Amino acid sequence: MRFLLLLFAGAVLCAKDAQKVVVEVAIESLCPDCRDVITGSIWEAFRADGLLDIMDLRLYPYGNAKQQLDQSTGLWKFTCQHGEKECQGNLMQTCAINIVQNMTVLFPWFWCMERSTSPIDFAPRCASQFGIPWAPIQSCVSSPQGNAWEHQMGAWTDNLSPAHTEVPWFVVNGAHDETTNQRCAENLIGVVCGLYQGPKPAGCGR
Ligand SMILES: *[C@@H]1O[C@H](CO)[C@@H](O)[C@H](O)[C@H]1NC(C)=O
Repeated sequence: MRFLLLLFAGAVLCAKDAQKVVVEVAIESLCPDCRDVITGSIWEAFRADGLLDIMDLRLYPYGNAKQQLDQSTGLWKFTCQHGEKECQGNLMQTCAINIVQNMTVLFPWFWCMERSTSPIDFAPRCASQFGIPWAPIQSCVSSPQGNAWEHQMGAWTDNLSPAHTEVPWFVVNGAHDETTNQRCAENLIGVVCGLYQGPKPAGCGR
């Protein structure tokens, strides 16, 4: 009995000791390759048994946008690679991330938006489908708070080292390289399971 207890305590400690693999991704709401990884590789990892216990997923919706402070309003003005609609989508996603503060709850909404024919138009429908409160997100989008949060996404993206040259841009445990970026886009499960130091969950396969 004592042995079993020790064994159990040991297993719990081991599981606690292993750090989650931190997967950060610079994305844009309308970039085709971003839509592919959100509905493909990331979605597969999200759904794989136990992967959320070993992966800390953080999304940064901004990508190749530019920002400039408007001195007269004190607000940031964003210019997006795929136009004004993409800026709206980035802002919705940024607001949702900051309001919901739980990627486990929120990611199905990203998946639903990005697999639709028009992510921005489908955002409210996808929110109601997955029980995400839409009203606070909608009011955030046109608020100074939303503007400040989007500015933070831009600051994170512009501070990347090495500087990003494309999106999606994966940073895994704080590091970026082209090979890992490609592997994340194709098989995020493999990357996360390969890096995780603790006992592998069933979703890692054999
Ligand atoms: C996020 O939500 C999930 C599902 O409701 C919950 O199990 C988990 O504890 C939450 N995580 C945090 C950090 O609140």
